[in-house]
Amino acid sequence: MDDFLDVYADDLCIPGMTGEKTFLHVSDDHLCIVDDLTPEDEADRLRTREQFWKEGKKGFVGYFGEPWTEEKHAVSTGDAFLRLLGYAEEKGVDAVLSTGDLLEHMHDAGVRFLRRHLADRPFDFLAAPGNHESESCGGVWNAGVQVIEYGDFRVVSVDDRQRTLAPDVLDALEELCGEGKPIVLMMHVPLLTDGNRDTKLGHMEKYYYIDERTCDESGRRLFAILRGTDAVKLILCGHIHGYTVTEPIPGLRQITAPQGMVGGAHLVTVHG
Ligand SMILES: [Fe+2]
Repeated sequence: MDDFLDVYADDLCIPGMTGEKTFLHVSDDHLCIVDDLTPEDEADRLRTREQFWKEGKKGFVGYFGEPWTEEKHAVSTGDAFLRLLGYAEEKGVDAVLSTGDLLEHMHDAGVRFLRRHLADRPFDFLAAPGNHESESCGGVWNAGVQVIEYGDFRVVSVDDRQRTLAPDVLDALEELCGEGKPIVLMMHVPLLTDGNRDTKLGHMEKYYYIDERTCDESGRRLFAILRGTDAVKLILCGHIHGYTVTEPIPGLRQITAPQGMVGGAHLVTVHG
């Protein structure tokens, strides 16, 4: 394996499932891509943001106690993401699941980069939008609820990037949960309850989570759906730029991916 990468592994048992599926869960790549078509003022802005993250990513690594090397400082956001895709291909994963902030902000060169580098990959790709992004990005991710079916279970992505969820997204999630088929749920912003309050996640500012105590009506409905179903088996999130495993709801793990900018990723194996 590329020794630039730090891959944290977990598994999920779905009783009765046949075979296994593996997913590379990535997040917060914050791509700042400049290409030949980028206007000069936009290129300056992107280079400034690329430079900003050289220090910004180090702060998160320090908070979460994750590995830091000179190479992690030096590698660009684009190269880090390509090395993660290379690992996904080498590992033969079934899908790369991105839980948001793939792009530092919506920019045409970033979209071109994603379309080019995600085309013809031997794995599925599903992305939940992050708060740095718009709710849809043609050819990369779609608005609302997105689903990939894997026989015995499904991966479902919802848009919670503004720490709120649209009524139609909650309706669709509720309907999917009602069908009873096991779900791996993806979203950008993680959930905070009294069950995971005393953790590195809970000690961050309120910007970093949807808090059951203080959330809006859509958040309360989301918590009610999740507390009232057995269908959701695992929650995958990002936004906090660090790897955490917590249990916001008894029996339901929530795992945040480390930041892709330093070669961090989370490998999930789903098996029977
Ligand atoms: Fe982010």
